[in-house]
Amino acid sequence: MQYKNKNLYIENINAHSLAKKIDTPFYCYSFDKLKRNIDEFKKNFSTINPLICFSVKSNNNLNILRIIKNFGLGADIVSRGELLRALKAGIKPEKIVFSGVGKTADEISFAIKKKILLINAESENEVKAIQKIAKRKREKVNIGLRLNPNIDARTLGKISTGRNEDKFGITGKNLIKILNKFKNSSNINIKCLSVHIGSQILDHRPYLKMIKVIDNIIEKTKYKFDYVDLGGGMGIDYNLNSKKLNYKKYNLIIKKFLKKNKVKIIFEPGRSIVGNVAVLISKVIYVKSSSRKNFIILDSAMNDFMRPALYGSSHRIVPAKKNQSIVKKVHDFVGPICETTDSFLSLKKYQKLNENDILAICDVGAYGIVLASNYNLRTKPAEVMVSKSSFKIISKRENINKLV
Ligand code: LLP
Repeated sequence: MQYKNKNLYIENINAHSLAKKIDTPFYCYSFDKLKRNIDEFKKNFSTINPLICFSVKSNNNLNILRIIKNFGLGADIVSRGELLRALKAGIKPEKIVFSGVGKTADEISFAIKKKILLINAESENEVKAIQKIAKRKREKVNIGLRLNPNIDARTLGKISTGRNEDKFGITGKNLIKILNKFKNSSNINIKCLSVHIGSQILDHRPYLKMIKVIDNIIEKTKYKFDYVDLGGGMGIDYNLNSKKLNYKKYNLIIKKFLKKNKVKIIFEPGRSIVGNVAVLISKVIYVKSSSRKNFIILDSAMNDFMRPALYGSSHRIVPAKKNQSIVKKVHDFVGPICETTDSFLSLKKYQKLNENDILAICDVGAYGIVLASNYNLRTKPAEVMVSKSSFKIISKRENINKLV
């Protein structure tokens, strides 16, 4: 995304012109940015040669998954639907890991049938369920045990996963018990120790703590895992001023761990691959002036993009055409939905805006379209992929008549 002559461009396409061709709001992705993020992620960890399983929950667009697959990534999935979509994108089962606290018998059975790399179990009862199904099928199934390392990654409280009070994973003590109980099972093969401590992590220190806990468990049990799955969670710079995760340090921590423990590392990144790859192109419907504020009422709403309403997270909003006149008044960028939380951002000043102006809500590629809903009986928006000077609709806007 860049400005040329005060006009916003996604690669070589003028955002304002694009908004004349496609009904707003719509998600607009950059192929080049996606490619660069993948290259960068690989480069950051090139010395440890990990298996990178893209976290499909962050974005499950088939076209995007196909691109990701073509760059050699696998998938981290959490449901039968995501597994089907990943397979449809051509991702090989031997590059797919299955996470989640509530896998149903049907989902486990399907994952076994498809011979995916690992089912990462999150409780003893789940291990039992997998064993029972595997026995019925006369199979030996590769599983991981997801550790809850009791670490607070200090990100948004609502997306924390690594503390004992969170529902995810198994405490160290229980994990060792489960390991001893099932290590000689003839229907399951415990191959992996997995962990994921949260999302939007910008400090490497929680990762350091996490690796220490893993190292401790391996030392205590002397169990030979083939894989250690470190999950995802790598944060991105939403506001162009936050600190960045120090990948060098994180990589060094892992390298040190690998000197002692000969395992294959798996990562499950979502946000760091797709987060800053898309903008939500929106149109101003009305500018509503009150004595204290200007409400900029957009045609996009919390049903299209949920993160601000759900987590109070803030995403930059930039104009498709820059102008020089600054209005020094609070601007609340809101959607048309009948909820006070249907609000994207509040700024102290902004350039003069008029009805029909086009704006771009930034960094919406991860946990954007996947969280969209039909609230207020609104259709989910289209998704568009830009590459150089061309664009392609990779998912159409829902049809209002079908929906109704
Ligand atoms: N692996 C597991 C087991 C996960 O639960 C998650 C995300 C990931 C990998 C990918 O994490 P990432 O690299 O994207 O941080 N909707 C929230 C984020 C929820 C994250 C859920 N788990 C948001 O919009 O901030």
